[in-house]
Amino acid sequence: VGKIIDTVETVSGLRKKVTAWRRSSEKVVLVPTMGALHEGHLSLVETAKNVGDRTVVSIFVNPTQFAPNEDFDSYPRDHQRDLQKLAALDVDLVFMPARSEVYPDDFSTRVIVSGLSEGLCGASRPHFFGGVATVVAKLFNQCRPDAAIFGEKDYQQLLVIRRMARDLDMNVEVLGGSIVREADGVAMSSRNAYLSADERAKAPELFRTISNMADNLARGAAIGTQIEAGRTRLEEAGFRVDYLEVRDGETLSPVTRSARPPARVFGAAFLGKTRLIDNVPVPALS
Ligand code: PAF
Repeated sequence: VGKIIDTVETVSGLRKKVTAWRRSSEKVVLVPTMGALHEGHLSLVETAKNVGDRTVVSIFVNPTQFAPNEDFDSYPRDHQRDLQKLAALDVDLVFMPARSEVYPDDFSTRVIVSGLSEGLCGASRPHFFGGVATVVAKLFNQCRPDAAIFGEKDYQQLLVIRRMARDLDMNVEVLGGSIVREADGVAMSSRNAYLSADERAKAPELFRTISNMADNLARGAAIGTQIEAGRTRLEEAGFRVDYLEVRDGETLSPVTRSARPPARVFGAAFLGKTRLIDNVPVPALS
């Protein structure tokens, strides 16, 4: 017999539960997701359970972070399987609001985090971080968690949300969870499901390329040369490169001279229509 999991679809239902927990001084940790849960999400849930007393997972495919030409309609949705996975982890509550619960017809507000949202994913997806910041601000206000966890695969998203929470005094601790990878190094992502068998076979080259760049940079290789070589390697492997950049892991400022921790290598590249992103830290010299 499967475990029963508690779900709510309304903000008032969510608030009732969370308020009761907070009244008894329990630390509430929110894991925001768009569903189609994989091991990466489940590791965020495990972290949430370790750092808090109550874990809430939200599942909402947020329309405002997709451009009209993007994959909102085809984004994978499988609530039944998601709930089974969350039940197996003993999650306390799953918040699954309908679109109208989150966005009433005359919804008019957008949260923009300037600076950090520009460049990298913000350059090719200019609508994206505004949509993410808006929905996460709403989720924080709806749930009022003590902490929330976001995966480091979307590293820029993590920093944008952390800055938003600080700038707007949201009093939510924003934590990052390490990237979970398949055995061949591919970062777990709900969008990996779009890859054909042939594309999936090519996919590990993104992680291999940025890891190799990070190792070479740690040994003092020139940034410009590494970026050129990485781009060529990805193109030869069948990718169309969106960006390949070295940025500071705390400020996201471009690193142009010497790449030392906390520098990171960030990559985004298409295999067919599927856009994959990944990032790795430049290791410290041992
Ligand atoms: O990373 C995601 O799954 C989404 O961008 C998030 C943070 C749940 C907001 O919709």
